[in-house]
Order: sequence, then C-alpha cells, then structure tokens
Amino acid sequence: MKIVLIGAPGAGKGTYAQILREKYCIPHISTGDIFREEIARDTELGRVVKSYIEKGLLVPDEIVIEVVSKRLKQPDALRGFILDGFPRTLEQAKALDKIVDVDAVVHLVVSEEVAVRRLSGRRICPVCNRVYNIYYEPKPREDEKCDYDGAQLIKRPDDEPEVVRNRYRVFYETFKPIIEYYRVSNKLIEVDSNKSIKEVFPVLEEVLRRNK
Ligand code: AP5
Ligand code: ZN
Repeated sequence: MKIVLIGAPGAGKGTYAQILREKYCIPHISTGDIFREEIARDTELGRVVKSYIEKGLLVPDEIVIEVVSKRLKQPDALRGFILDGFPRTLEQAKALDKIVDVDAVVHLVVSEEVAVRRLSGRRICPVCNRVYNIYYEPKPREDEKCDYDGAQLIKRPDDEPEVVRNRYRVFYETFKPIIEYYRVSNKLIEVDSNKSIKEVFPVLEEVLRRNK
C-alpha cells in the first residue's frame, strides 16, 4: 500500500497515518516529523528549516524533495508507506511522481475552526511521535506523559492559534494546482475529516481498499 495523506493542519494526517501504520505495518513518513527531529538534534538541516516552520511557512521545495526522495529509498519503504504532508506544492507532486508510483492520494478535508480547536488541544510524544489531545480521544494521562514510553508530552510551538491560521491559509494557497494535477491522473480522493475518528476511519479504509 503506497498512499499519500494530504490536508490542512489539523486535518488528521498524523492521526490516521499512525492508525494505518499499526494496522498494516508500513512506515509512516511525515515530512513535519522529520524536520522536527532535525530541529531537536540541532543539525545543519534543522537550523535551516526552523525559521520556516516557526512562522508556519513552507520549507523550500528543493530541501523537502531531497529529504523525501532519500527516505523513500530506504528498505522499509519499498513494500509500502503512508506519506504524510507531502506533496504540498505542484513541484513536490511532480517530483514524487518521478520517485514512485503511488496507489492513492487522499485529501482529508477540515474546516479552519475545527483545525484550530484540534491543534490547540494536541499534545505529542517527542520519543514515539504518538499524538494525544486534551479535548478528544486518545486523551493524555493527567501527568501528560506518554502511555507507551513515559516521555513528557509536548505542545508544538506552531500550534498556537495565530500560527495555525497562517498555516491553514498557506496550505490552501498552494493546494489548488495539486488538486488539478491529481484530478487528471484520477488518484485524488476527498474524505470529510471534520467528523470523529470513529466515523472517518472506516470511510478512509474503504477508500483505500478500493484503490489498492
Ligand atoms: P506538519 O507536521 O506536516 O504539519 P501540518 O501539515 O501543519 O499538519 P499537522 O501535523 O498540524 O496536522 P495533522 O493533519 O497531522 O493533524 P493531527 O492528526 O496530528 O508540518 C509542519 C511544518 O513543516 C509545515 O508548516 C511546514 O513549515 C513544514 N513542512 C512539512 N511538510 C512540508 C512540505 N511537504 N513542504 C514544505 N514544508 C513542509 O492532529 C489533529 C489533532 O486533532 C490531534 O490531536 C487529534 O487527536 C485531534 N483530533 C480530534 N478529532 C479528530 C478527528 N476526528 N480526526 C483527526 N484528528 C482528530
Ligand atoms: Zn511515546
């Protein structure tokens, strides 16, 4: 299964990628997670991307494309993967086509208000990247530590409502050409992600089953 999950911040890309990863045993490749890890390790790449991410701006195409292309060539990704948050621009979509043939591109659709609420409650495990939410299931324990490894959960600095609104706007500014691009190849599927995980996940699974 080679699938791409795209959508605005808070659409649930990370959430559904995590469920799919556990169910189908294929890697979850998130460009956002890769960049945050580089920032945390204070690498050269981390220092370059930090200023973009903090402002809610897109990291330049050439950097993202190189990172994804390297990651997709690793052995664990050859059998299948869930790509989360890439492509975000037309250039990235074209580059992805040159690297690999994906089975489906799912656009998780979410409204700005729902996104802002979800992200203001999001807490993340810095060790295993599991996602919790103080408003929705799975909720974190009272001490806000990860159920699996006990790490202290963190709030992403770019989840402040003003930055979320900026990320949301930036996402839809660059998104239209991508929709057009994938419409032609018949690979784009829209899933309404404003509903609960319990309601959305079966729809997503059905869509993936049909497009395998
Ligand atoms: P990235 O990490 O990809 O962030 P994002 O796209 O802004 O997406 P989020 O992680 O915020 O949202 P999500 O859809 O994964 O939602 P999640 O499921 O976690 O990118 C960060 C930055 O990196 C970008 O701003 C950019 O600077 C840079 N970058 C990354 N990729 C790039 C690229 N390709 N090109 C250029 N730059 C790039 O969260 C939803 C929350 O809601 C969770 O807490 C969840 O539990 C909760 N929730 C409650 N109900 C539901 C429900 N029904 N469905 C889903 N989630 C629910
Ligand atoms: Zn953890």
